[in-house]
Amino acid sequence: MEVLRTAAEIREVNTRYHDAAAASYDSKWSIDFGQVGQAQVIGKLRKVLGSALERGFDRSLEIGAGTGYFSLNLLRAGIVRHATCTDISPGMLRALLANAERMRLDVKTARADAETLPFAEQSFDVVLGHAVLHHLPDLERAFGEFHRVLRPGGWIVFAGEPSRVGDRLASIPKRAAVAAAPMWRWAMRAAPSPPPPTGPSASMNGDEAGLERVVDIHAFSPGDLARFASAAGFADVRVRGEELLANWFGWFNRGLESTADPAEVPMAWRQYAFRGYLLLQRVDERLLEPRLPAAIFYNLLLAARRP
Ligand SMILES: C[S@@+](CC[C@H](N)C(=O)[O-])C[C@H]1O[C@@H](n2cnc3c(N)ncnc32)[C@H](O)[C@@H]1O
Repeated sequence: MEVLRTAAEIREVNTRYHDAAAASYDSKWSIDFGQVGQAQVIGKLRKVLGSALERGFDRSLEIGAGTGYFSLNLLRAGIVRHATCTDISPGMLRALLANAERMRLDVKTARADAETLPFAEQSFDVVLGHAVLHHLPDLERAFGEFHRVLRPGGWIVFAGEPSRVGDRLASIPKRAAVAAAPMWRWAMRAAPSPPPPTGPSASMNGDEAGLERVVDIHAFSPGDLARFASAAGFADVRVRGEELLANWFGWFNRGLESTADPAEVPMAWRQYAFRGYLLLQRVDERLLEPRLPAAIFYNLLLAARRP
């Protein structure tokens, strides 16, 4: 039975879940801070900002910055000159600072809930986020805050938000992976994954999938995202969809891998999965995204301007 949670509980579970996930987050999601990562992040911004990206941004604010995928790649690429990164999870911000130190990048961090940002009005030229809106209990309040801290003429850009239809379609490769897993493990000569740890040594209370259901509270239609932006006073609202084949391929492979002992998944397989994903991202971008409706893609992107 579905348990209804209060906004405070959702924020608390988000903090706990992402604190526990922080140490292995980059390897789990293949987050890259080199040329591949920079090209991915710039490509996402270009899809919705177009020529507005050309001059870059002086002061950026990232919401739910995690380990720094967006801000650190944009700083390194010179698209952003001064970055402030916020997150509700202190563990994520520690991982972000460790990444920044390794990359010799200067970045400000602040632990903050997206719905109550500790910054003065009109402090930033762009407000960014990747895979964060779907965790926020009160999106109207959050969009109000993005508008307040942004200077007139500044932009919001959010990417990686799950689309409702795309999310439903993704259950097909996930189910196919479950069915194919025994054969795949046999072909890889990989043992089944060990049972999750229990007791005091376990890194999270309860099972991870259970917590995921609590933290992932929204999937959007393109119209939903556009309405939140317009209602908060933004203009020039743009919504696009991205990743279809890449995403199916990714979920199928991730589903297979999750059934095997991670130490026994061959490196050659991991490289095939990563390169195949990048290749299909390009196929999606060139062939499918310009032709098919945004709603059927797995991820939605939103950009809008404060008048
Ligand atoms: C799926 S992760 C994405 C992290 C990063 N943006 C990336 O793409 O790798 C979502 C992030 O949002 C943060 N988050 C969740 N709820 C939040 C809230 N209410 N306010 C601010 N950040 C929040 C989480 O702690 C987590 O770091």
